[in-house]
Amino acid sequence: MPNDKVVLAYSGGLDTSMMVKWLQMEYGMDVITVNLDVGQGKERKGIEEKAWKLGVVNHYTFDAKEEFATNFIFPAIKANALYMGTYPVSSSLSRPLIASKVVEVAEMEDARAVAHGCTGKGNDQVRFDLTFKALNPKLKIIAPVREWKFDRHSQIQWAKEHGVPVPVTVDSPYSIDENLWGRSIEGGMLEHPDKMVPSDIWDWTVDVEDAPDEPDYVKIGFHKGVPVSLDGIDHKPVELIQKLKQLGGKHGIGRIEHMEDRVIGLKTRETYEVPAAEIILNAHQDLEKMVLTRHQKMFKYQVDNMWATVVYQGL
Ligand code: ARG
Repeated sequence: MPNDKVVLAYSGGLDTSMMVKWLQMEYGMDVITVNLDVGQGKERKGIEEKAWKLGVVNHYTFDAKEEFATNFIFPAIKANALYMGTYPVSSSLSRPLIASKVVEVAEMEDARAVAHGCTGKGNDQVRFDLTFKALNPKLKIIAPVREWKFDRHSQIQWAKEHGVPVPVTVDSPYSIDENLWGRSIEGGMLEHPDKMVPSDIWDWTVDVEDAPDEPDYVKIGFHKGVPVSLDGIDHKPVELIQKLKQLGGKHGIGRIEHMEDRVIGLKTRETYEVPAAEIILNAHQDLEKMVLTRHQKMFKYQVDNMWATVVYQGL
């Protein structure tokens, strides 16, 4: 009789790579991996190859950037979605999309179970679990991190013993999640709010001291509540967000540090880099404050050291 199949949301990192072996060994299941490009912006070559080397029976890659921008980020812009008035829910938005593709593959492959790499402490586990349950309550959910009892040292030991490649960056104490809308950095010494945020956590944004003295100007055109053009030139959603990410990052815009309430009752210090979200949401909120007429309105707003001119193109 063939083994049961489990579909794993696979990032290519150490944890989910170990999970492939873990699911094979502890559960005796055949593992199928699913990886989504939601605009992480990192080199993605090698993720699929790594999965095959770990012995998966099938692997799926989805370029979900356009879908993520249009169906997830854009509604969040219309809603001015800011958790606790601060965090533009960037990681949160990607989870239902990733989980829905995992379910899609599970149904296609006739798999009995699905798996994710979230810990038992954060919000991401809830997003995956709820999406799985909503879309297909028959699927068994396996979350190996909630089961295994490793500390970092024994985890790396186990990985090496089982032929799981251990990246050199494994020393990073942070849990980092990236997508088109933002970069979340948490864990490690960030969990001590009495200590300053170390400067090595930032990757998308420069320190204000290193930002150019000269401002940049950008004109953002909105149509029906979502951004459609920059400086009068139409852009597709992904491209528009990526351009504003670059521009904002260059000016040190979009760094967030706050105390966050987690679903399970923890309160933790969390940090984010969200340059595009900061610019677009500010522009959108200002736009909503305007008294709109049928005529074109133009106004300026200032975000840190950058001026943006926002044009509303009419109702
Ligand atoms: N605290 C944020 C949230 O709940 C970010 C989670 C980021 N996840 C991660 N694995 N680093 O949405």
